[in-house]
Amino acid sequence: MPTNIRQIAVLTSGGDAPGMNAAIRAVTRTALEHGWNVFGVRHGYAGLIAGTFVPLRARDVGGIMQTGGTILGSARSAEFKTGEGRNKALRSLGEADIDALVVIGGNGSQAGANELSLLGFPLVGVASTIDNDLCGSEITIGVDTALNIALESIDRLKVTASSHGRAFLVEVMGRNCGYLALMAGIAGGAEVIVIPEVATGPEEVASSIQAAWQRGKPHALVVVAEGAEHNATELAAYFRKHKERLGFDLRVTTLGHVQRGGAPMAFDRLLATRLGAGAVEALADGQQGVLMGYVRSAVVPTPLAEVVARKKEIDTRLLELSRVLAR
Ligand code: F6P
Repeated sequence: MPTNIRQIAVLTSGGDAPGMNAAIRAVTRTALEHGWNVFGVRHGYAGLIAGTFVPLRARDVGGIMQTGGTILGSARSAEFKTGEGRNKALRSLGEADIDALVVIGGNGSQAGANELSLLGFPLVGVASTIDNDLCGSEITIGVDTALNIALESIDRLKVTASSHGRAFLVEVMGRNCGYLALMAGIAGGAEVIVIPEVATGPEEVASSIQAAWQRGKPHALVVVAEGAEHNATELAAYFRKHKERLGFDLRVTTLGHVQRGGAPMAFDRLLATRLGAGAVEALADGQQGVLMGYVRSAVVPTPLAEVVARKKEIDTRLLELSRVLAR
């Protein structure tokens, strides 16, 4: 069903993810092709409430595809979580004469988008978070780059761990989801992977490290998700306390935000480009209240209500495969 959209706005919200700029570029230029005016919203939902809209023309989004972060800025807005905040946002959209909105972000951002959509405002979401914890997209914008950044560190840590015969704990991001840790652990050849989805106690981690030494390994690498029941800080404290009994020396590296700030790799640029353009085409087709995600190699819309109601599962059988491969 064709629409009579004349002006759209685009925002990035929540934790930034490498590829957000490529998505902004794709949204802008695809919308311009439809003859629409495009506005960027500064700093996510906070900017929507404040009404900070900046015009985006073709040249304004030039040279940004290869850069990390988001040219629009991002934020986590507590005010937007309130009914009053959302009504203010609706007023700002009305005053700026915006007909539709594109929301680029992860779980929290798409939950906010769903609320706004329920109030009747036409919008489409774009799946973007390094956590890969969003339903409606098998992989989200930023995951691949964040994973590559984590891997680069893991590879380096393995080198020095081997030189010294040490064990290393590497903590990766992911909030409550173990996807990044699981994939970084498998691709980095970790001896142990600790994720929130599978309870793993410190003694179990310790015996896997000892088993690795016994198999003649020159190092032992443990990749821990930040959301795991026993995160890296806790595990390290436990191993320090029991150092004599366990008999190994252990170092800890927390990768933290380093994983988020990289320049997007080819996969994220292409994914962001396809999802951003897909969001505009969905609006042009009269769709709204959907998330554009990547499902079976295609750009697919899923109702936001469905996206926010479900929890994304990860394939924990891969944990067993990682154990086999760490032999
Ligand atoms: O959601 C992305 C993410 O990087 C999570 O992995 C992490 O837990 C969180 O954001 C950190 O948030 P902030 O940047 O607000 O500290």
